[in-house]
Amino acid sequence: MDSSKKSWEKRLAGERDPMTVDFVESLSYDNRLYKYDIVGSIAHAQMLAEQKLITKAEFKAIKDGLIEISKEITEGRFKFDKTYEDIHMAIEAALVAKIGEPGMKLHTGRSRNDQVATDIRLWMRDEIEVLQSKINALQKAFVKLAGKYAKDVMPAYTHLQRAQPVVIAMYLLSFVEQLKRDFVRLKNCRKMLKISPLGSGAIAGSTLPLDSESTAKQLGFSDISYNSIDATSDRDFCAEFIFDCALIATHLSRLAEDWIIYSSEEFAFVRIDDSHCTSSSMMPQKRNPDVLELIRAKTAGVYGSLMAMLTLLKAQPSGYNRDLQEDKIHIFSAADTVKASLDMAQAVVSRVKFDTKKISTGLEEGFLDATALAEYLVGKGIAFRQAHGIVGSLVAYCEKAEKKLADLTLDQFKEYSPLIDKDVYESIGVANVVAKYATEGAAGTRQAKEQIAYWKKQLAK
Ligand code: ARG
Repeated sequence: MDSSKKSWEKRLAGERDPMTVDFVESLSYDNRLYKYDIVGSIAHAQMLAEQKLITKAEFKAIKDGLIEISKEITEGRFKFDKTYEDIHMAIEAALVAKIGEPGMKLHTGRSRNDQVATDIRLWMRDEIEVLQSKINALQKAFVKLAGKYAKDVMPAYTHLQRAQPVVIAMYLLSFVEQLKRDFVRLKNCRKMLKISPLGSGAIAGSTLPLDSESTAKQLGFSDISYNSIDATSDRDFCAEFIFDCALIATHLSRLAEDWIIYSSEEFAFVRIDDSHCTSSSMMPQKRNPDVLELIRAKTAGVYGSLMAMLTLLKAQPSGYNRDLQEDKIHIFSAADTVKASLDMAQAVVSRVKFDTKKISTGLEEGFLDATALAEYLVGKGIAFRQAHGIVGSLVAYCEKAEKKLADLTLDQFKEYSPLIDKDVYESIGVANVVAKYATEGAAGTRQAKEQIAYWKKQLAK
């Protein structure tokens, strides 16, 4: 199509340089907004009819034409022509070609600036629901897995050094908590989307008697913008959305990192299902956790989108600038990446197995019960800082003597503190420790049972 046919470029002389056409187009990626563009246009046209800016018959022609175009796009019959720059112009041109004159009235009182701002908000509203359902699916997979390991113990690490014994279920539920915050963050982000920018035009609104309340209501927005200058250039919600995606990716990368480590021969705590492993082109014995490595890697791309979005917004002069066209590259990319990672993580979690036998063989190594012993001494009236020192000395002795704390005789214990009694043996050893955890949310057996029940109920809602 030659650019002289573009009614909105009468002001320009001659043809666009083909390089310009390629450089400015966004149709190649914003075509995925088509459904939102069309419902937005139908709402706008209905409002124009209500305001008598177009006739009822014209509205009907516009609506029918747009519905037909929507079908053509869905069925892959629509010919996308990048000379139209973006999805908004491509659809408008197709409408004019289909219905003629009434199609030319669709853009009355509207700019692509308020149009695209509306489309993105509508897209994001749906996209957030998709993300939330994927978060829920992953949470459910974790809770199911936690149910299988409600009593088994594993070492927990701080600084990647053995710290304290924990029930495996509580370790797994720690991810459910992270995902819960991700869910809530997206919910809050969705609240920011409730304001309709439609009616704001290019920057200053319109002299026509548009009814922004009508379009807002039709499109399910609960409020309208009261400042057209802000409404047409506000992309704060895009930065927030990508940030929310970035934190989901962060959480998934931590899970990935854990299980990459845990699936190594050195740990052998977890076994990723064969269906989620890859092998090596050279080393025939290999079972590689590539999917986890890629979940970890994809986080980088999401952070990149966040940086790009913020940088894109930084120091933009007031009002719409074409820079904003590229917002979509980053929100789409962040959403697509995180959706794929959530799905993959859910698949891995659904089939992973913890090797409880292997884990238990090393459980009494590394003095996981040392903190519990110090707390036992507190129970005997010793100040914690002193108790800490006593147990530190005991551990140093045991290490030299190649013993565990539970191997010591009562006499040996008494050399370090006369207050230690034979009930000490009920407070050390990992099984005793996880049964003794008393605080809410501690990684013990009682808490695991409670938390599994809690999450099952929560996620069934
Ligand atoms: N494709 C543009 C975007 O995505 C639409 C708005 C363009 N507006 C303009 N006046 N050039 O942001």
